[in-house]
Amino acid sequence: MKLLIRQGRLVDPAGGIGGALDILIENGRVAVIGSDLRDPDAQVIDASGLTVACGLIDMHVHLREPGFEYKETIATGARAAAAGGFTAVACMPNTRPTIDCPEGVAFVKKKAAEAGASLVWPIAAVSKGQLGQEVNDYEALKAAGAVALSDDGVPVQNANLLRDAMILARRQNLTILSHCEDADMVQNFAVNEGKISRQLRIPGRPAIAEELQVMRDAMLAEETGAAVHICHISTAKSVAIVRRFKKKGVAITCETCPQYFTFTEDEVLRQGSLARVNPPLRTPADVEGIIEGLKDGTIDAIATDHAPHSAEEKARPLTQAPSGMIGLETSLAATLTALYHTKQMSLSDILRKMTLNPACILRMPHKGRLAIGSDADVVIFDPDEEWVVDPDKFRSMARNTPFAGKTLKGRVKYTILGGNIIYQDT
Ligand code: DOR
Ligand code: ZN
Ligand code: ZN
Repeated sequence: MKLLIRQGRLVDPAGGIGGALDILIENGRVAVIGSDLRDPDAQVIDASGLTVACGLIDMHVHLREPGFEYKETIATGARAAAAGGFTAVACMPNTRPTIDCPEGVAFVKKKAAEAGASLVWPIAAVSKGQLGQEVNDYEALKAAGAVALSDDGVPVQNANLLRDAMILARRQNLTILSHCEDADMVQNFAVNEGKISRQLRIPGRPAIAEELQVMRDAMLAEETGAAVHICHISTAKSVAIVRRFKKKGVAITCETCPQYFTFTEDEVLRQGSLARVNPPLRTPADVEGIIEGLKDGTIDAIATDHAPHSAEEKARPLTQAPSGMIGLETSLAATLTALYHTKQMSLSDILRKMTLNPACILRMPHKGRLAIGSDADVVIFDPDEEWVVDPDKFRSMARNTPFAGKTLKGRVKYTILGGNIIYQDT
């Protein structure tokens, strides 16, 4: 099947192509980019007034299958991804059982292939059962199709194990994605340690719990030479640490999520457990530091940490509800609203962090670009359309978003995977 996308504003951070152009897609690839293209056999999409870019890549989601299918499945998560403009998502291994063996990776790949909507790239666990005691067989996991390693959800506390893991991961050319929080300091606490925790008279998760482990991981990355990626960075000091180690040439990268540059800890007072996430929402100074890190390139990627939970789980009191929020269907709009429409970042710089950079970090050099010959993974969106977030319209099984009821600016119109339309806004 052929597809002709006409008159869209093409934004490709890798190639820097701009202006209204036509794109002809043939056999799942970008065949021609030019002006006034015609092809009588092609299905035509009129993209005038819309932005056309490489399909978004989310390097950090939780799809809950196997084991927690009441929260989300790979199929529903993949559909939510498509609706959010994503053509690829990398899913975390904190399922039941943990994805820590080749069979587990194969299971995720099989479910993803059945779902058909959006590519799902499995991330395998760093340690056996995510227990932080024994490293897994990274060579076998990579051969089975794991794209990276992470114990996100139950982060590695044992520095010695993590050091071994980095040495082994480096041999396999796999990046370690690290959720940085010191377990003893954060325990099962619900909010940032500070103003809100004091006001609510509950213990909080201190910023230093994250920063200590960011420093630990940066030093281990320097010592081992492994590629280390810090997940969902949330404090200004964490950004400063990554900035310093990048300057030294250490192979460290990091991501943040829309919640960390949109909301502060105050959101907990308004939204209760819906605003509960690990690491927690922080202070206005932290939000400033995150935005600064995004602007100066210290923060490489914008991920969602899409973490579905059931309505019943999130209805529990703040201190008993599980942490996490969904993000696939609001990520692009929330990011454009916070960073583009406030004139803080260009479309190209934003898209780089949602396409090219995550592809590079996950070592998918052929992904994350929209150029002649590349896979026809495309998102077409209206950067200026406003809409009110209504979770009942989500493809995700979950509803736990702090963006519910908020007006966002930026709307996905089409998502195309390998030349097939996998989502169309109606
Ligand atoms: O808030 C979070 N939710 N942080 C994590 O690290 C895990 C995630 C989850 O799996 O729900
Ligand atoms: Zn995490
Ligand atoms: Zn996560």
